[in-house]
Amino acid sequence: MNWIHSSKRFFNNFQREILAFIHRKNLGKLSPLYDDSKWEPGHWYAEHYQRHFAPLRLKKLKILEIGVGGYDDPKAGGRSLRMWKKYFRNSLIYGIDLVKKKALEENRIKIFQGSQTDESFLRDVLAETGGLDIIIEDGSSSNEAHIKTFKTLFPALNEGGIYAAENIHHSYWPSLSGERWSSLAKGSIFLENWIGCGGSLDLNDPKTLMNMYKRLVDGLNYQDFLRPGYSPSHFDKHIVSIHFYPNLVILYKGNNDKPSNFIENNALRPFVLEKLGVESLEELGLEFSLDNSTPECTHLELSKR
Ligand SMILES: C[S@@+](CC[C@H](N)C(=O)[O-])C[C@H]1O[C@@H](n2cnc3c(N)ncnc32)[C@H](O)[C@@H]1O
Repeated sequence: MNWIHSSKRFFNNFQREILAFIHRKNLGKLSPLYDDSKWEPGHWYAEHYQRHFAPLRLKKLKILEIGVGGYDDPKAGGRSLRMWKKYFRNSLIYGIDLVKKKALEENRIKIFQGSQTDESFLRDVLAETGGLDIIIEDGSSSNEAHIKTFKTLFPALNEGGIYAAENIHHSYWPSLSGERWSSLAKGSIFLENWIGCGGSLDLNDPKTLMNMYKRLVDGLNYQDFLRPGYSPSHFDKHIVSIHFYPNLVILYKGNNDKPSNFIENNALRPFVLEKLGVESLEELGLEFSLDNSTPECTHLELSKR
């Protein structure tokens, strides 16, 4: 009977490889074939990835995905890594997971074991990979872990790189506290993750990852802030576009240094003052904040490397 199972498996894999080859240019079709977490209900990421990644498909890139899949089982997961390998046929694919997933490594797929919140581990990973072109965050469900990882890894993206953060809806799911839940979660990364999301029922809670990403949107326009003495953050200067989708945000890295027409150094340009018939900003009678520190997103300043 064993041989029947093996031949069935062989035939299924063979069939999938043929279909994957036919659909190699289309993530919308590849994703269900690999049965990863990019297309299942609630996670309709594949169509958005297709839009953003299609122009990069044949480039030689370094791509890192946080969260290999399969949670506690060292032999389970790796589906999305295999999909990226098929799609980006000239690229190196790296994965990070809390659990040792070495068994899933293949040619062009390398997997590191460690926590996405461990800065020294991430530094070691970066020392080995070098600058990255695409980072996909699909690891821990915790808001705090997600934010910390973004803060450490976004600066490691190459110019023109893309940071895709999945599961931003975890912002809306608070942690469950109490003995009942902590004992239920004990020993299961999956349950620990879901019970400890650390989101909030308050849509404006500044602790959530969704609110961190929302705040970064303002930074796109930092050149136009009327705020004398403003000192732009790394994110202000290096995020050039942010694309929100249900459960997903995609950020592009570049040089956000295009000057504003009316504003320079966060004050009015001399020709504007002249046109308004004033000599300084103060004469406008506006109330400027005495606090010239940068907005909250800047506490995510570059981690030291
Ligand atoms: C949703 S699964 C990833 C699914 C996979 N990317 C896919 O599309 O098929 C999340 C994975 O993140 C891992 N994980 C959870 N917390 C982590 C952490 N702090 N650091 C690294 N990996 C973590 C889990 O072990 C699990 O395998």
